[in-house]
Amino acid sequence: MSEVVTYSREGNIGVITVDYPPVNALSHAVRSGLIAALEQGQKDSDAKALLLVCAGRTFIAGADIREFGKPMQEPGLASVVERYENSGKPLVAAVHGTALGGGLETALGCHYRVALSSAKVGLPEVKLGLLPGAGGTQRLPRLAGAQKALEMITTGQFVPAKDALGFGIVDAVDEGKDVKAAGMTFAQKVVDEGMPVRRVRDLTDKIAADKGRDVFEQFRASLKKTAHGQFSPFKCVDAVEAAFNLPFPEGLKRERELFVECMNSPQRAGQIHSFFAEREASKVKGLSKDTPVRDVNSVGIIGAGTMGGGIAMNFANVGIPVTIVEMKQEALDKGLGIIRKNYENSAKKGRITQKQMDDRMALITGSLDYDDFKDVDLVIEAVFENMAVKKEIFAKLDSICKPGAILASNTSTLDIDEIASTTQRPEDVVGMHFFSPANVMRLLENVRGSKTSDEVKATVMAVAKKIKKVGVLVGNCHGFVGNRMLHKRGIEAMALVDEGAKPQQVDKVLTDLGYPMGQFAMSDLAGIDVGYRISEELRNAGENVPPSWMDKLAEQGRLGQKTMAGVYKYEEGSRNPIPDPEVERIIEDFRKEQGIASREITDQEILERCMYVMVNEAAKILEEGIADRALDIDVVWIYGYGFPAYRGGPMFWADQIGLDVILAAVEKYHASVGGEQWKPASLLKQLVADGRKLGDL
Ligand code: 3HC
Repeated sequence: MSEVVTYSREGNIGVITVDYPPVNALSHAVRSGLIAALEQGQKDSDAKALLLVCAGRTFIAGADIREFGKPMQEPGLASVVERYENSGKPLVAAVHGTALGGGLETALGCHYRVALSSAKVGLPEVKLGLLPGAGGTQRLPRLAGAQKALEMITTGQFVPAKDALGFGIVDAVDEGKDVKAAGMTFAQKVVDEGMPVRRVRDLTDKIAADKGRDVFEQFRASLKKTAHGQFSPFKCVDAVEAAFNLPFPEGLKRERELFVECMNSPQRAGQIHSFFAEREASKVKGLSKDTPVRDVNSVGIIGAGTMGGGIAMNFANVGIPVTIVEMKQEALDKGLGIIRKNYENSAKKGRITQKQMDDRMALITGSLDYDDFKDVDLVIEAVFENMAVKKEIFAKLDSICKPGAILASNTSTLDIDEIASTTQRPEDVVGMHFFSPANVMRLLENVRGSKTSDEVKATVMAVAKKIKKVGVLVGNCHGFVGNRMLHKRGIEAMALVDEGAKPQQVDKVLTDLGYPMGQFAMSDLAGIDVGYRISEELRNAGENVPPSWMDKLAEQGRLGQKTMAGVYKYEEGSRNPIPDPEVERIIEDFRKEQGIASREITDQEILERCMYVMVNEAAKILEEGIADRALDIDVVWIYGYGFPAYRGGPMFWADQIGLDVILAAVEKYHASVGGEQWKPASLLKQLVADGRKLGDL
């Protein structure tokens, strides 16, 4: 008998239990065990119904992703599900935790499903660049209809048990906490009431109702906007459509063909790399499960601006009280008003209830007095980027906060060690770099100073998890990982326009790669005045900052989206960037002024100069130990800058292009364009010489 799947009988119910931590994934051993246990149940004449239940924290969370890319060992999941569906004895699945992907497909092969009210179900294969490949695209529509099945399968959303009941995906919801008891009660009812074997494949009413509707074309049209450049969401629609146009066995065949196409696509490899990279990033070199973690039950935030307010919401959302300190009542009121508005918008959209909104607002207290920080466990400073101001704040915090409180800065570029140097407790000082909008963006770039203690590092990584962010621990340098690389891309993007490219051409190359917006649309979002002010300050301090056409935009009051004109122009109420001939004229004048002869620039050159310059910088970041692993950099870019997860992150992407190709281009641009950013990283050269990849680090 398999060790991971067991069969036992309790009364007249045969119980099949999967116990394969951590998430009961459908490895080869589990698939074989499921078949063996089913056979035992069929032979057991005292078993009048069978119950499938899982041990541990969850029902089956899907196929074992670690087996992907290796030769498939029989039995395949589809045949396991088919055998369950063929069972002559009624089969009940009892769901707790999450029934996902192949897990939900297995449950759909059973004849009835009961779920704890805390459980969720979903078919998230699309997030791995796949589609459900064990009958999910054929069975789910037979229960939930075309619209709901398409929504679930193309987005991968997790549906709470109560909603799943409403959609017809589960047959009962149990309010208790004991999944086995819930399953036994339902199975006993099946026996006592003589409930029949009910095979999902034989259900026809939803198929008949939705057949011929234009819902599929509508989905394809909307995916063109939301899943631009992605492969699997469109294949998901094709597979679900097959459930309506083909008999069940043919539909299954079509699903298999489409599944194989997705499995062979490079996007699948990229998505799965992203999945594991996100999880690996939480395992920090030098820290272990035994590293002590401090309790963070209350938080102080300095600054009620856009960043401070967004950061506060993250904590209130998970029930942690926050005190926000501002300098002036007016600024405080404004900041708290914006937070309230954000929550009201979420409530209007039905994302939170009125009560949740009130509870969250009640957790946020405004103050004008730093003394209110004296008992908090963590303070996050979120004021503007000025070292002198930050140092003054940290000295003050040092004198007020209790021993053991963590003092964090949300700086996006400044030296954490210098900030820490004004305190008597540099071991408690750390960077916590949130990305704007801080209540939405998932990345939390935690920055270790040279003296930050392991305990504090472990705590800020645990805080990230607690507030549902993806934490990445990085080292201390100007701009850390994300902004340091972005800065180099910015230099090249500007240079490309100087030399003859149009801003919209540069942006299109980046959005075609899968970024949600290009370099110049991003400048308009952030505000052209931000960079202009920094350049002016440097110039006033006597530094040689070369002039740029962007300065001219700022001087003309074209500050970006907020003035409805920047690099692009904008229409009232729209964030859609529209190329502006006026800007092209400003750029042309600038070229003339600077004596630059404009030339034709190819998209390939734009791609190479914007992306390879980042890869070269990333190699320097790795070389200096600012990032421990290439995957940390991938995670920073996916969750902080919207780099497409289906390309696996910029490091995974670079490995696929080939480091030798990239190094050759870096050397070429070093010779032709010049500049520190093109000096080839020693690590890049070394990896090419050794025939290794960034992903090997
Ligand atoms: N296969 C293998 N390992 C898996 C896995 C899977 N399907 N799902 C999770 N794991 C591993 C994680 O890598 C992690 O391992 P680690 O501890 O060594 O880092 C561990 O299980 C715990 O995972 P999380 O840290 O993510 O734990 P959470 O509690 O935060 O989340 C979860 C649990 C909601 C189940 C989340 O892990 C998840 O979403 N998993 C992926 C589910 C999925 O995509 N299923 C579909 C798979 S494809 C499929 O089924 C194809 C089929 O149609 C043929």
